[in-house]
Amino acid sequence: MNCNIGVIRGDGIGPEIVAEAIKVLDKIGEKYSHTFNYDEILMGGCSIDATGEPLTEGAIEQAKKADAVLLGSIGGDPKTSPWYKLPADKRPEAGLLGIRKALNLFANLRPAYLYPQLKEACPLRDDIIGDGFDMMIMRELTGGLYFGKRETKEVNGKTEAYDTLSYNEDEIRRIAIRSFDIAMKRSKKVTSVDKANVLDSSRLWRKVVEEVAVDYPEITLEHMLVDNAAMQLVKDPKQFDVILTENMFGDILSDEASMVTGSIGMLSSASLNETKFGLYEPSGGSAPDIAGKGIANPIATILSAAMMLRFTFDMDKEADAIENAINKVLDDGYRTIDIMPAPGKDTTGITRVGTKEMGDLICDRI
Ligand code: IPM
Ligand code: MG
Repeated sequence: MNCNIGVIRGDGIGPEIVAEAIKVLDKIGEKYSHTFNYDEILMGGCSIDATGEPLTEGAIEQAKKADAVLLGSIGGDPKTSPWYKLPADKRPEAGLLGIRKALNLFANLRPAYLYPQLKEACPLRDDIIGDGFDMMIMRELTGGLYFGKRETKEVNGKTEAYDTLSYNEDEIRRIAIRSFDIAMKRSKKVTSVDKANVLDSSRLWRKVVEEVAVDYPEITLEHMLVDNAAMQLVKDPKQFDVILTENMFGDILSDEASMVTGSIGMLSSASLNETKFGLYEPSGGSAPDIAGKGIANPIATILSAAMMLRFTFDMDKEADAIENAINKVLDDGYRTIDIMPAPGKDTTGITRVGTKEMGDLICDRI
């Protein structure tokens, strides 16, 4: 198969982790006779440096022409980077929000899975970890607080700012349907997370999710308030299968879920619209503090490439090959710094490796 992939290397550790994912894709191409063509797209800080804009019309056109886009990470250190002296809509993050909106990527899938080999890196107690956990966070990605009306203004001599959290029923319905469809292929449980005891938008969310649930009699639906969900994620993560939630709650809960799996460096993601197109990226940020040091964990990006093969290109056996190779590397004791056993835990048979080495070790096992 001939696959056209847009590649946004981005900022910080982005170029380093994307290079490893491309290495793995090329290995898959060789082994299974596929051709992966890469079209480099500028976005984020590097695009600001080159064009003055975090996302140009040309970049959006390139992304639209691709079958799928692989993204590293964007952004810099807000304390030191000149990008953060620009108005908010000209900063790197505006590029990411812009591409999500321009491509209508309303469904963000963030799987959080505890690899049994990484139990020692998980900050939770053994009795809480039990047999591990495996959940899919379904985050609505093109609505809510991220895209609502916002303003900063002077009122009676004081500066005031507001952001608005608004959803219409269609926006809620489409992400709910996508979540129920995914839950049908998993353990048929959906936890819809909202703040319906306070917010109107959450009350509408709950109503629409219940309407959608009528078409899925086999699914067990439960509603959970977001503050309780934050607590339950560390108290008993095993109870979750599919978590369905709005944009901001999903942003926060997915970082929490990633830490519970040991490291954000393991958490992949897919952002999908109504077609087979997808934008695939690790859930973590650009980590400017470790950029260029060759120590970033490339696994989340490589897993995102596997998600791309599965969702956009229907290449299940190729995606399995990548996931199995990652499992073998972990079995063999190789770890980047972020997934090393927690202090005081047993490190027998564990070898610390850098970004490139991790990519090579995974390729060797495909
Ligand atoms: C994420 C990130 C982004 C978000 C930032 C970089 C704008 O945190 O993808 O989770 O908030 O969506
Ligand atoms: Mg986030």
